[in-house]
Amino acid sequence: MTRILDKTPELRLDSVPMLDLQRQFEQVRAEVLAAVGRVCASQHYILGPEVESLERELAEFCGVRDAVGCSSGTDALWLALAAAGVQAGDQVLTTPFSFFASASAIVRAGGRPVFADIDPLTFNLDPARVENFVRGGRHDKLRALLPVHLYGQCADMDSLQKLADEFHLLVIEDAAQAIGARLGERAAGSMGVSAAFSFYPTKNLSAYGDAGLVTTTNPAMAEHMRRLRNHGSPRRYVHEEFGWNSRLDAMQAAILRVKLKYVEGWNDARRKRAARYDQLFIEAGLTSSGEQAENSAPIQLPRTSAKAHHVFHQYVVRAYRREELREFLTARKIGTEIYYPIPLHLQPCFVYLGYLEGDFPEAERAAKEVLALPMFPELTEEEQHWVVKSIADFYC
Ligand SMILES: Cc1ncc(COP(=O)(O)O)c(C=O)c1O
Repeated sequence: MTRILDKTPELRLDSVPMLDLQRQFEQVRAEVLAAVGRVCASQHYILGPEVESLERELAEFCGVRDAVGCSSGTDALWLALAAAGVQAGDQVLTTPFSFFASASAIVRAGGRPVFADIDPLTFNLDPARVENFVRGGRHDKLRALLPVHLYGQCADMDSLQKLADEFHLLVIEDAAQAIGARLGERAAGSMGVSAAFSFYPTKNLSAYGDAGLVTTTNPAMAEHMRRLRNHGSPRRYVHEEFGWNSRLDAMQAAILRVKLKYVEGWNDARRKRAARYDQLFIEAGLTSSGEQAENSAPIQLPRTSAKAHHVFHQYVVRAYRREELREFLTARKIGTEIYYPIPLHLQPCFVYLGYLEGDFPEAERAAKEVLALPMFPELTEEEQHWVVKSIADFYC
């Protein structure tokens, strides 16, 4: 740890926030307020031209034909699953290590979630485990795979797509955390038949309220989702099926259109900050290339797979004695989070699925070890130094 301590012996900050949206707002304030003013002047608050423009711009950003705005990432997942034809009795396979909505949307669409364990290096769905499941003869009710691009890194879509092709499954991406992420040349949101995005205020592209969107390569599904988000109604007061009110409002769309212009620059800033954390942890001697966070190398750095363009929605390490470290950092007013402390197969509401502790050991180990550190494009070098120095102080 000497280099950090030597370089900045007197450094001491009062606090470091996990996320500071105020700093971003200062950059876009004038443009955002003008966009809000434009919507108020138009008096067109739900769907309409702003939403249609956002849909076109995001479809182009992701390199797909269609995008359908809706009221949240959770609803985006539901729309994608419903339009894919998931219905009662169908299984959809996803990761047990994600936000709740990845699995609850399957239930809401009428399906039954099934899980396969994660790759311990990327925290994403492990194709080898998915293969075990389908080759194990348990796939006759399986209709779709729902990989999550966790923390901003795309899942291994090539391997998953191969399995999907062989077993006639649809692939739906949960890209809620991954706007701007890529695998080789392909953007998150362009690899499955459809993909769900969330613009929850903490996301890399964030609204000032709830908002979401589905991208799709299938025009018929896009049409279907447009009906479903609006009470199954192709035109006023005609209802062809039971949809939902899942419309996106024009104010959020207008704000998102302002911010979309900046998202690649913000993602680059996140990537730079992730590289700086890596470097600081290495210089501090807190890490090794091993797979286990342990006493001699208490921090295991996040891994990026070869073809992935990771956009670091979160910077997540594995930490030895995580709970004590977290308390120590909290005492110094350094923000941290645990995404996610309880794997989905062990959530109380999923008891009926019949999974037990020990079924997905890597997801369960990750839930005990992961720690997300402050990460946002405006995080300063000084703040990062203080975070790493504080972690070094804890382990010394
Ligand atoms: C992986 C993942 N899926 C789905 C969602 C749901 O998005 P929302 O909060 O916009 O409903 C989130 C966001 O929290 C998420 O992180």
